[in-house]
Amino acid sequence: MISKSGIRVVAVSDYEELSREAARRIIAAVRQHPASVLGLATGSTPEGTYRELVRDHQEKGTSYRRVTTFNLDEYVGLAADNPHSYHAYMEQHLFRHLDISRERTHLPDGMAGEPEAECRGYEEMIRKTGGIDLQVLGIGVNGHIGFNEPGTPFSSETQVVRLTESTRQANQIHFEDPKQVPTHAITMGLATIFRSRSILLLASGAKKAPVIRRLLTEAEITPALPASILRSHRDVTLIADQEALSQVGSSLD
Ligand code: PGA
Repeated sequence: MISKSGIRVVAVSDYEELSREAARRIIAAVRQHPASVLGLATGSTPEGTYRELVRDHQEKGTSYRRVTTFNLDEYVGLAADNPHSYHAYMEQHLFRHLDISRERTHLPDGMAGEPEAECRGYEEMIRKTGGIDLQVLGIGVNGHIGFNEPGTPFSSETQVVRLTESTRQANQIHFEDPKQVPTHAITMGLATIFRSRSILLLASGAKKAPVIRRLLTEAEITPALPASILRSHRDVTLIADQEALSQVGSSLD
């Protein structure tokens, strides 16, 4: 259903159904266009989706040989082989299980000697491949997408950002020691994300209920809520489970 926000909302019962539904859409895109360019996200939310992609690849043989991927972000200061890096996350949850060609998987380099040049190069690479066909996104409790924290201009492109305390706290669960959570990241900007032809936004659990309520019911499109930029995009689908939609109530009807 199209909500008043302009965002298409697919309501599912729980995390498992969200994962299956998101995977189904990604698989359909890849089967229709085997040379698709996918934008990928990390975090807890897409783990189940990736598990479903792997299962489908193993059982049904969907091929990723011609697929190109660009991840949203990477922590500054973590090397690709650091188990906390998003490079390692993608290897563990997805890439090593698929027939994807490593030369066509891209994440920003968190160890780049010249981060600004790294950011410009990343944008250029996305552009050269013809842009992102389907971007998978999570959403932070503060409304960030990628690591674009509140206040980030809508015109932003791939850049180095400082993480807010709220984001560092939310991501602590993935680190043994809270102090290990990096303070900076390289992230696609909001303009970069907005240029994707189609966007799949995933939200699961009661923790996301307040931000999903804000996204779907607040009037304003504002950098204070970075995800609100998605309301002016023509092809955004939010897949959200009951808990994430629990504060939206009848405004979806
Ligand atoms: P999560 O992160 O999937 O771990 O909740 C989402 C995000 O911060 O974008």
